[in-house]
Amino acid sequence: MSSHREAPVRRVAAPDILARKSGTPIVCLTAYTAPMAELLDEHCDLLLVGDSVGMVVHGLPNTVGVTLDMMILHGQAVMRGSRRAMVVVDLPFGSYEGSAEVAYDNAARVMKETGCSAVKVEAGPTVAANIEYMVRRGIPVMGHVGLRPQAVMVEGGFKAKGKGGEERRLILEEARAAADAGAFAVVVEGVAEGLAREITQDIAVPTIGIGASAGCDGQILVTDDMLGLFDWTPKFVRRYGDIRGEIAKAVAAYAEDVRNRTFPGPAEIYYAKAG
Ligand code: KIV
Repeated sequence: MSSHREAPVRRVAAPDILARKSGTPIVCLTAYTAPMAELLDEHCDLLLVGDSVGMVVHGLPNTVGVTLDMMILHGQAVMRGSRRAMVVVDLPFGSYEGSAEVAYDNAARVMKETGCSAVKVEAGPTVAANIEYMVRRGIPVMGHVGLRPQAVMVEGGFKAKGKGGEERRLILEEARAAADAGAFAVVVEGVAEGLAREITQDIAVPTIGIGASAGCDGQILVTDDMLGLFDWTPKFVRRYGDIRGEIAKAVAAYAEDVRNRTFPGPAEIYYAKAG
């Protein structure tokens, strides 16, 4: 009996990403659904199931309302749709900051229930100890410094960070602390170019930039932003498509065909069998 099962593909893992420090830039995008993950998989080293899913898919005003259950559901979908890229799932606001034990339990649940390879946490001033606790117990962790979207309520909005002074020093320290705690990579978001380059030179693990210059070891964007699914995107997004425009055109054409009864046509209907 012959088997037609596809040969297993080895997924990119945390040590592979770590080994790319100062090497070929690491290509990352966000994904929230199985079909999108399937499209992105062959092009990306890493797919992030970002908590931006709350804003992009669920219409929330920010990421604060995103729950662990939402992240698990989308993590499962992305794992089903991808075979090769490393899949990292964001731990949402309130699921990892309180204590190292809570962070570990929630991260372990995400990994068990999704099959993903790592979690990401926003590495504010108090989180390094929780990163270390998770990593020492077998959970690969990615940090996230600079503009930290989960801090939107204390910041009063999404603002570029680290343009100078004390704030710059703090962000560099947070990146160092995350790397020293064992993070295998650190996302650097919305910071001035000089600081992004300084962090990249300073820490031993890859930096993944978003709005942080080409000086980082890799780049990530919110996929829906770069595909042009929204009418507004931040300054740092380069649009590689106009999916919003394409959808509008397609839906207008469909509506017109329905209204003038040219859809469905002869090729799109079933006929009774002769006899
Ligand atoms: O949630 C997210 O999509 C992210 C990326 C923007 C890095 O954290």
